[in-house]
Amino acid sequence: MTQASSAPPPESGPAPAWAGRRTVDPADGRSAARLGWDADAARYQREHGDYLAGPGEGDLVWSPEGWLESELALLGSPLDLGGKRVLDLGCGAGQAARWIARQVGATPGGWVAGVDVSGQQLRHGLEWSSAHPRHPRFMMLQADAYDLPFADASVDVIVSAFGVMAFVPDLAPVLCEAARVLSPGGYMTVSLPHPVRWMFPDDPVAAEGMTVATSYFDRTPYVEVGADGRVMYAEYHHTLQDLVSACAAAGLAIARLWEPQWRGDRSRIFGGWSAETVDLVPKTLIVRLEKR
Ligand SMILES: C[S@@+](CC[C@H](N)C(=O)[O-])C[C@H]1O[C@@H](n2cnc3c(N)ncnc32)[C@H](O)[C@@H]1O
Repeated sequence: MTQASSAPPPESGPAPAWAGRRTVDPADGRSAARLGWDADAARYQREHGDYLAGPGEGDLVWSPEGWLESELALLGSPLDLGGKRVLDLGCGAGQAARWIARQVGATPGGWVAGVDVSGQQLRHGLEWSSAHPRHPRFMMLQADAYDLPFADASVDVIVSAFGVMAFVPDLAPVLCEAARVLSPGGYMTVSLPHPVRWMFPDDPVAAEGMTVATSYFDRTPYVEVGADGRVMYAEYHHTLQDLVSACAAAGLAIARLWEPQWRGDRSRIFGGWSAETVDLVPKTLIVRLEKR
């Protein structure tokens, strides 16, 4: 575990020399999570940071479709979070974690930790914290989801909104590590790209329609390579079968599953997510995993 870096981030990462789908050495893919998000943190937070903080006093924004935790109550009622020990895995700048910290409140024993492998994402979180009231039981830690700096059974709830799951080649080790730190009866609610998203083009207008572009079963990751030949970014496709198998290996039961449709502002585009595409195919999967 290290503290969030205070070095200034690059304004935006260098453009990749090559981008597309190709196999990648798992070790290169793993280091790319930090490299890629460090390089892209400034752009990501500039484009999406305010949106991810939620409207008004803040919220937990589950996915680009725009649904909020205050509407969906996927974590239960705000009262259920009171006094809980919560981990936000792949927290970015911690917008969601800060909102959760307010729900956890001042009940003794409760705390919220935002964990991210990217020091630059966390650095944006530090800037945010200095500009907003800080919850006394909210902390941010730089750590890798493969190796969490928490004792066995020391966490009640894990939240991950588009953090981690798409950036690991194999879900099982990360889910096993999450299950290790969860207390019995604890749960993990995560949003991730829906497996069918990988079959279709991001932009149906440019691609002249939503036709199947690649096989659902093709697990070749999307990769960006820098001019020096290093893998700068890797995003992985996990089929439903992969997800269910990894949950079983980790001893986590899938208790609920959501496929959100578009909500609200239909002019908003977020990467490959738009109202037009989400009207046709699900782009996000949200699952609640329980340790029994
Ligand atoms: C798409 S961003 C989502 C950030 C935040 N949850 C949000 O909603 O804005 C994915 C985040 O996951 C982090 N991440 C990716 N792989 C990780 C890993 N192995 N361990 C910890 N964090 C990781 C990245 O650094 C990045 O900040």
